[in-house]
Amino acid sequence: MAQQQSMITTVQQHILQQQKNFPDATGTFSWLLSGVTLAAKMIEAKIRSAGLSDILGAYGQMNVQGEQQQKLDVYANRAMEHCLGLRDSVAALVSEEDDEPVVFNRDGETGKYIIVFDPLDGSSNIDVNVNVGTIFSVFRRPQWGDVNTSVLQQGIKQVAAGYVLYGPSTILVYTTGHGVHGFTLDQTIGAFLLSWENMRMPESGPYYSVNEANLEESAPEYTQFVHDMRAGKIGEKHGSRYIGSLVADFHRTLLKGGIFFYPPTTKAPQGKLRLMYEANPLAFIAEQAGGMATNGIDRILDIKPDAIHQRTPLAIGSKVEVEALRSALAK
Ligand code: AHG
Ligand code: MN
Ligand code: MN
Repeated sequence: MAQQQSMITTVQQHILQQQKNFPDATGTFSWLLSGVTLAAKMIEAKIRSAGLSDILGAYGQMNVQGEQQQKLDVYANRAMEHCLGLRDSVAALVSEEDDEPVVFNRDGETGKYIIVFDPLDGSSNIDVNVNVGTIFSVFRRPQWGDVNTSVLQQGIKQVAAGYVLYGPSTILVYTTGHGVHGFTLDQTIGAFLLSWENMRMPESGPYYSVNEANLEESAPEYTQFVHDMRAGKIGEKHGSRYIGSLVADFHRTLLKGGIFFYPPTTKAPQGKLRLMYEANPLAFIAEQAGGMATNGIDRILDIKPDAIHQRTPLAIGSKVEVEALRSALAK
């Protein structure tokens, strides 16, 4: 009997299979997501050679966040806008790196989707060769109304979300609301191949992940929460892991369990992370994998946005730890 070939599933095949869950998606959805994977391969190639070409370092401009734009931020943003802008199913793009949405003049029939993204997450780590990522979130464009206002949708309205993690290997993780699935880029054939189907986040985990340098600037309940985790009072005794790239800290939390949190601080009273293109997509993935995501108290996906770059505190990961933090803050 012929050796049973282990099934090779590319992300395109997987998206097409997933698409059967989208009654009205006629291939536009998979075509749209292939724009993300194409951009991811372009960004990955640039990152791999970053040390060789003059692509490291600051671009010399500030973005709307008032942050120093790295050259790779700008490249990644252009790659995402180029690859997605060519898909006529895209009505608008919202990027961390652009002050305003990029709106395409497409009617409601063709331009059905709005994509919100952080083209390069963790960019301060680029110059020290530490993992960085790309995060994206997909909304349907409402039939009526001005595209500019319809970009401000609650996270529960997302039709898809995902991230790419550029690390020792390049991983793509995404959900369309039917489980969370992970792919690894096979450099030899330039395709993302299915490596984890239906990823599940452990109920509890061994790590907490927070920038401890900020704890004195946050409510004392956060410091007490860290002490309780160190003392093994919330599940097992927790160790600390903090990479400083949200995608990398989240991916570890998805695989191992535990909690990542970025609390409000005196310097950032609304937290540092952005709702639309950091918290929402990762919250969708966390919940689809059996985890949770709050701003400390409220569910991230329920937050009604009023600005595309608005910030939110974030606590995301295993149910046990996220619930424990919520009850500590609710006291
Ligand atoms: P970005 O590079 O897209 O601006 O995101 C950086 C974020 C996030 O990746 C990470 O969790 C956080 O900044 C780290 O912030 P601190 O350096 O303040 O800990
Ligand atoms: Mn980011
Ligand atoms: Mn970024």
